[in-house]
Amino acid sequence: MKVVKVKDYDEMSDMACSFLIEKIERLQDPVLGLATGSTPEGLYKRLIEKYNDRKVSFEKVSTFNLDEYVGVAKDDPHSYHYYMKDKFFQHIDISMDRVNVPSGMAEDLQLQCEEYEKRMVDAGQVDIQVLGIGVNGHIGFNEPGTSFFSRTHIVDLEESTRKANARYFDSIDDVPTQAITMGIETIMDSKEILLLVSGAEKGRALARLLNDESEITEEFPASILKRHERVTIIADWEALNG
Ligand code: GLP
Repeated sequence: MKVVKVKDYDEMSDMACSFLIEKIERLQDPVLGLATGSTPEGLYKRLIEKYNDRKVSFEKVSTFNLDEYVGVAKDDPHSYHYYMKDKFFQHIDISMDRVNVPSGMAEDLQLQCEEYEKRMVDAGQVDIQVLGIGVNGHIGFNEPGTSFFSRTHIVDLEESTRKANARYFDSIDDVPTQAITMGIETIMDSKEILLLVSGAEKGRALARLLNDESEITEEFPASILKRHERVTIIADWEALNG
């Protein structure tokens, strides 16, 4: 894992933006794996700015999002569908038929998981997966204890995750209890991974990831990244010292 240390959230977002633009320019049909949460918001803002300045086009780009809440409709502002459209897709020239976000409203959720996996294979797998990290070390919505061999699946969300995400809802009771997420093995299948870490509240998780090179355990999902050959972590001062 390559660690890039930056000053703050803005510098992390600038660097992540340049990183993705370089891939988009170099690859024939770039397939981006995208994340939600507050961490990548600055990245999306900058990519939109670059698009507006005609520095990048998303015409040839396909995307796969990591996860979505179960039971939340696409047009609900709490859904990750809505987040992605609102914060990114509607501002750029991406073709919406190349955009993939798992549906938490599918009648047959198991089938939806299998179809999502198949679509990724058909697209030639994710070239570069953007990741954030949960305070408990989750990636996507893969909570501690998730099998390293998991593919896209339905998960029960931990209390700490629901608490962390309650800021987007009126109260914690409104936070969904389940989500659909790419599995750990699905994430590991991506050709390259970019993990963004910002803020003191992520300090413990980041320290655990960086300080003990030998610890690879399902109890700390992000630890699997040590087995991937191409991982770049961009972390800011607060996260590194939090
Ligand atoms: C959320 C998402 C993850 C995200 C993580 C961190 O629960 N499912 O994909 O990376 O937790 O979120 P944030 O960036 O808001 O701290």
